[in-house]
Amino acid sequence: EKGGYDHFMLKEIYEQPRAILDTYRGRLRADQGIIKMAGIDEHLEKFMNANRIIIVACGTSWHAGLVAEYIFEDLARVPVEVEYASEFRYRNPVITNKDVLIAISQSGETADTLAAIKLAKEKGAFVFGVCNVVGSSIARETDAGAYTHAGPEIGVASTKAFTTQITVLTLIALKLAKEKGEFSESKFHEFLTELETIPAKVEKALESNPLVEIISDVYKDATNCLYLGRGYNFPVALEGALKLKEISYIHAEGYPAAEMKHGPIALIDDQMPVFVIATKKGHYEKVVSNIQEIKSRKGKIIAIVTEGDEQVTELADHVIEVPETLESLSPLLTTIPLQLLSYHIAVMRGCNVDQPRNLAKSVTVE
Ligand code: F6R
Repeated sequence: EKGGYDHFMLKEIYEQPRAILDTYRGRLRADQGIIKMAGIDEHLEKFMNANRIIIVACGTSWHAGLVAEYIFEDLARVPVEVEYASEFRYRNPVITNKDVLIAISQSGETADTLAAIKLAKEKGAFVFGVCNVVGSSIARETDAGAYTHAGPEIGVASTKAFTTQITVLTLIALKLAKEKGEFSESKFHEFLTELETIPAKVEKALESNPLVEIISDVYKDATNCLYLGRGYNFPVALEGALKLKEISYIHAEGYPAAEMKHGPIALIDDQMPVFVIATKKGHYEKVVSNIQEIKSRKGKIIAIVTEGDEQVTELADHVIEVPETLESLSPLLTTIPLQLLSYHIAVMRGCNVDQPRNLAKSVTVE
């Protein structure tokens, strides 16, 4: 049932090219220049007239929501707020019938997310679900939705759910961008065709696996790690840190690279591995100077870079290449080596990768 893999997590990491394809198959029609999604098509005016979109989720799904915030604001020019479901529901939030709430949940059973949905519905918001499990409580409780079609995710650490959630949310953002006239036909077409190259590019990113395994061996005994990114890749840094924490029990923190100088840089010494997402299109020069700041304090730099990179490659202790893509689609690629890294480190430390201590696959308690 693990398809020849040692763990479900590794199997699910490797399923991502296929899972992403399954997620946009039938929806993305690049040749016709359209995106078809019943849940959006039937409620288009709700999205078009929305004052803002509120995204609620927990854990990894919340990180997918943060990536979506960048995509929705950048492409569709809709204001977005991303909230932990648990904080949203208990803070007497201001919600009106001009708000659209998107709830993201792999399992569709997360108690806090479900409660946030009920609250938003009571206050008159239109509630849209992005779930993986068909027929789940959240899928039933929402006014409309879109499934991720990732297939069953068994490993407790979420991997393919994350990338397929980002895929669905990207499709929605692109659709709204087009409807709102934010995109020319040619720009829209460029995005659709680039999205169709993503499964093959994820496949390519997975080829870093042997190198990631070697790097994992170097850092497996670390007690603390930092993950840094900017813009679209800031949430990827948060997600990289969460993956490492939950399955290898190493303390890790994700930070926006520019925030280093406001505190965390004090932690840097020659014992501190710093994983930096430094792809070409995401504020590259700024990230390069952040890397220099860390280097001069003797931190160890492991950078995720674009194929053919030279500048960061000169500075970093290790680099892992991913294929080039549009900045807004880059999280789908940069997250892959970070998933592999946490997997290998956890295996090397003898941890129970698929069933980490204290964690459950769906959190139905508040
Ligand atoms: C992390 C992880 C959790 C879940 C969170 C939300 O790998 O699995 O952080 O992402 O519990 O779960 P869902 O998406 O089922 O609502």
